[in-house]
This record gives sequence, structure tokens and C-alpha cells, in this order.
Amino acid sequence: MIKCLNILIIGLLISVACLTQNNPISIPNVLDVIHSRKSVRTYTGQVVSEEQIEILLRAGMSAPSAMNRQPWFFVVVDDGDILKEFSESIMYGKMLSEASVAIVVCGNMRRVYSLLPDYWVQDCSASTQNILLAAEGIGLGAVWIGIHPQKTRTKKIRKILNLPRYIVPLSIISIGYPTGVEKPKDKWAEEKIIRNRWKD
Ligand SMILES: Cc1cc2nc3c(=O)[nH]c(=O)nc-3n(C[C@H](O)[C@H](O)[C@H](O)COP(=O)(O)O)c2cc1C
Repeated sequence: MIKCLNILIIGLLISVACLTQNNPISIPNVLDVIHSRKSVRTYTGQVVSEEQIEILLRAGMSAPSAMNRQPWFFVVVDDGDILKEFSESIMYGKMLSEASVAIVVCGNMRRVYSLLPDYWVQDCSASTQNILLAAEGIGLGAVWIGIHPQKTRTKKIRKILNLPRYIVPLSIISIGYPTGVEKPKDKWAEEKIIRNRWKD
């Protein structure tokens, strides 16, 4: 009887171990987050916490960067007046007045790699995308609002935030709790892929 019970317990332990190894719920599924990300422009009004903001910033700083220069700089904006100013200054940025918080992802020109200075755009874009994915992953909604290289937008944001010349705003990420109206788009397009060489 005891032997039978032992075998049963060992069997149960092995099954649990196998289940935990293969169970997609116990492993953060990066593909689920990637495919469910969408631009979210409507928010419930619920406040995004400091802990959540830190999660987003940590994700932003985990991005790859050319020569590992990490040329990013972040401005966290939770002041309603500034968010309103943003929304009034950017034609396609009206959602910012309803956002709980915005993160302005900037390039620090004092940190760019001197031989390839333009890489800061890719570096800060990777950082922006990391923040968008992290937001989706923790149940928030966010949208990328492009600033650089639009001169007028850059000038306006620079003025509102009183940024020094060497800090260039690349994007504003508008963040809040999603209302649920926005859905991810299916963008799979086989015709956008070739294998090996281009054929005329
Ligand atoms: C460089 C860049 C600039 C963008 N600027 C804006 C913007 O100014 N306003 C806006 O509402 N969305 C902006 N978007 C979001 C796009 O409109 C959005 O990603 C696109 O429509 C695809 O939708 P999805 O994000 O839901 O997949 C921008 C996205 C990128 C990558």
C-alpha cells in the first residue's frame, strides 16, 4: 500500500514538473505581448502607478544600442497642464490630454557614438518599442507619437519642456489604462518577404 502511494506521489511530482516546464502560462509569452500590442488612444482615467512607470522605464533602458552607447534620456510627464499643452501643440496628439502619464523618449547628443551619430534614432526607437511592449505586457495602453525629425514638433516639445539643445525628443509615449476599444491589427503580408536574392 505504502509502495503504491510512493509511486503515485513520485508520478504526480514528475507530472507537475513536466507541466511547469511546458506550461505557457508560467513562462512570460513574449509573442503574445508582441501580437496583442496596438496603439491605444482612449483611456479610462485610472492613474498609472509609480511602480508601473518604473517598469516601463526599465524596459526602455534595456533596449539594444549601437556600441552600447545607451544615448537615451526620458522625461516622465504626469502634470495635467503639460499633457494638455502637448495635446494642443501636436495635431495627432489629442489623446495626450486624457493620458495618465507620458514618457518623452529623447536622444542625448552628448552620448551618441561619434563615428555613427545618426544611430541614436534607432537606439531610441528600440527603447520606445520596448516601452510600448512593456505597457501592453502589464495591461496598460500606449501609443507612439513621433516628434523627431519633424522640426515644428521638435521645437514645440523642446520649448514646453525647456530641454537643452543636446537633448532631442524622438517620441512621446502616451500611456493610460485602455478602454478596450482598440484592437491589434493583423499585418501579416507574405508579399513583403523574399528569400535570399532579389529577383527582377
Ligand atoms: C514613428 C511613429 C510616429 C507615430 N506618430 C503618431 C502620432 O503622431 N499620432 C498617433 O496617433 N499615432 C502615431 N503613431 C502610431 C501609428 O499611427 C500606429 O502605430 C499605426 O497606425 C499602426 O497601428 P498599431 O500601432 O495599432 O499597430 C506613430 C507611430 C510611429 C512608429
